Amino acid sequence: MQRMLGLVLAVLVSSLTLSAEEPLTKIAFGSCAQQENPLPIFAKIAAQKPQLYLALGDNIYADTVDLEVMKAKYKKLADNEGWQQLVKTCPILATWDDHDMGKNDAGADYPKREESQQIFCDFFKIPADSPIRKQKGVYSSKIFGPEGKRVQVILLDTRYHRSEMKRGKREPGMTYTPYIPNLDPKATVLGEEQWKWLEGELKKPAELRLLCSSIQVVAEDHGFEKWMNFPLERERLYKLLKETKANGVIILSGDRHLAEISCQTDAIDYPLFDVTSSGLNQADKKWRPAEKNKHRVGIMTHGDNFGIIQIDWSTPSPKVSMQIRDVEGEITLRETIPLTLLQPGSLVAKKEPKDPKSEFKPREGAISPAEALTKKGEKVVVEFRVLSTGMTKDGSRMFLNSEKNFRDKENLTIVLTKDARKGIWEKATGDTFLNKPIKVTGTVSEFNGSLQIEIKDEKMIEIIEEKK
Ligand SMILES: [Fe+2]
Repeated sequence: MQRMLGLVLAVLVSSLTLSAEEPLTKIAFGSCAQQENPLPIFAKIAAQKPQLYLALGDNIYADTVDLEVMKAKYKKLADNEGWQQLVKTCPILATWDDHDMGKNDAGADYPKREESQQIFCDFFKIPADSPIRKQKGVYSSKIFGPEGKRVQVILLDTRYHRSEMKRGKREPGMTYTPYIPNLDPKATVLGEEQWKWLEGELKKPAELRLLCSSIQVVAEDHGFEKWMNFPLERERLYKLLKETKANGVIILSGDRHLAEISCQTDAIDYPLFDVTSSGLNQADKKWRPAEKNKHRVGIMTHGDNFGIIQIDWSTPSPKVSMQIRDVEGEITLRETIPLTLLQPGSLVAKKEPKDPKSEFKPREGAISPAEALTKKGEKVVVEFRVLSTGMTKDGSRMFLNSEKNFRDKENLTIVLTKDARKGIWEKATGDTFLNKPIKVTGTVSEFNGSLQIEIKDEKMIEIIEEKK
């Protein structure tokens, strides 16, 4: 990062720069820093020697409409020894959340957001001619690294334009009044201009994209601030990610005073991870039972924390490690994935090309598995070569598949119950049928979304003799 090769990409807060030629391998991030209290964690982040630090919001707790008070609070952070150490270590990119924009849980209703935006820009040393100073909101984006190893950092502004939140009811036993979904189609998180900008950004080529949102995107079960308080906007985000075919997206979020990794597999066309690191000095320090989050991967951590994204570009299949670290810099939570997982269609089972020798044409009066799959509820005679087999643990049912991978959409499974494995099939195992053509008579039925033919009579299945 100290080399001055090629285009200088980022100069924020510190005078440190990153060259366009240098791939990012270590990025740190964090949120929620109460400037009035000690922040020893910044020194620990600096000790990790990240190439870039992403400040995800609640960078200070301003909580005021008095702009002089706000500036004084930023000054307090600027004077913090740990922060100064971090500033000397790497460039810093930032977005804000409610407290640093100016007020707890604030959105477009915060009256001083225009002025607050300029104070934010001053603190993060954003140049006078930068669009970040001119647009409505502090959103920004940068791409680092050479082709094949590009990391795009997108920092959203989820506050400046955000519509009114809806409060629910505080049920008995609840410690807070939860927010509930705002289903008004006009309600927004990003605002139209930022949505258009984001679409343009997602269309730019990059191998990995860190989509930074001050509030959580994936977690949906808690009653605090989250994208799910605006379900239509969250859906719009998922639709945009799908339509732009944006590969390599990992969401980084903060705000929650806890750390966790969430993963949603049905949001876009590949697993969508949301790595939440919150509480540079504001996290709950005591252990408590993990709050409900059906998308959580691993544990919910306690205590102050920061996040690290580490990328190993050295192998043909680069790996991305998502980490949460504690005040000592120790890893408390880690999920490592191949970058290829973050590609549209990565979860769809790849069909192995069929060996031409395994092809078996149904004889007259019989149909193929492909045809049988269109005849749900009908009695059919089907003929095919068995390409894989299986058995339930208790041995009650044997499976004969028309495809090597039983999850293949084109697979037809023949289920042999114990009643069918009598007489000539009494001692039959999977190997008895594997790679042999069979003739099956039975009714096509559905089980767990897949089509099958269940055989309860030994006479309903036979192995076809092949001419040598
Ligand atoms: Fe917040």
